[in-house]
Amino acid sequence: MITVNIRFCNINDLEALYSIEKSSHPAPWPRAIMQADLATGRNNIVYLCAEWQDVICGFSAFSRKRRTLRVMNLAVLPEYRRQGVASQLLLAMEEMAKLWGCKEMALEVRESNYGAQALYARFGFYKARRLGRYYSDGEAAFLMKARLPLRVHIQKNPT
Ligand SMILES: CC(C)(COP(=O)(O)OP(=O)(O)OC[C@H]1O[C@@H](n2cnc3c(N)ncnc32)[C@H](O)[C@@H]1OP(=O)(O)O)[C@@H](O)C(=O)NCCC(=O)NCCS
Repeated sequence: MITVNIRFCNINDLEALYSIEKSSHPAPWPRAIMQADLATGRNNIVYLCAEWQDVICGFSAFSRKRRTLRVMNLAVLPEYRRQGVASQLLLAMEEMAKLWGCKEMALEVRESNYGAQALYARFGFYKARRLGRYYSDGEAAFLMKARLPLRVHIQKNPT
């Protein structure tokens, strides 16, 4: 576990965020879209990044739709995974959700993305719906939701 510093992003973070994005998703967001988001706050998308010893090792992007915080992206550099970085970003998004008066968080995750699904399940997200052919490559998604506050499920070691 590493304890990261989490802060709001700005346009100067574009290159770091885009390289995390490229190393994390089969169909990464285009650089120009991320640039527009960071420069203009397009669609009110908020970006948070996680820093460890001056390295930006992960980020999240999210927005508010009525009383729901929608997680639109969450990614961690491969060499920093399984050290609690995404968990800390999720908890930071929950803080924003509380400030916004949201009652729940929601996101879409690829059907084959078992690792991310395990992460979300750990924080109390449940599969609300399967969305067939959700992605441009034809893969389905699960819409996952969690009521706030998040409840962390720690797996007990077998005795
Ligand atoms: C999914 C992702 C964001 C997780 O980031 P992370 O920083 O490694 O996650 P954490 O270390 O906070 O994981 C917390 C817990 O979630 C679960 N988990 C996370 N990744 C997992 C994986 N690949 N397989 C199984 N369980 C996983 C585990 O319970 C883990 O606890 P443990 O390491 O003590 O077993 C990261 O793997 C990633 O960037 N993947 C590519 C992009 C992606 O799929 N994003 C999600 C899009 S919806």
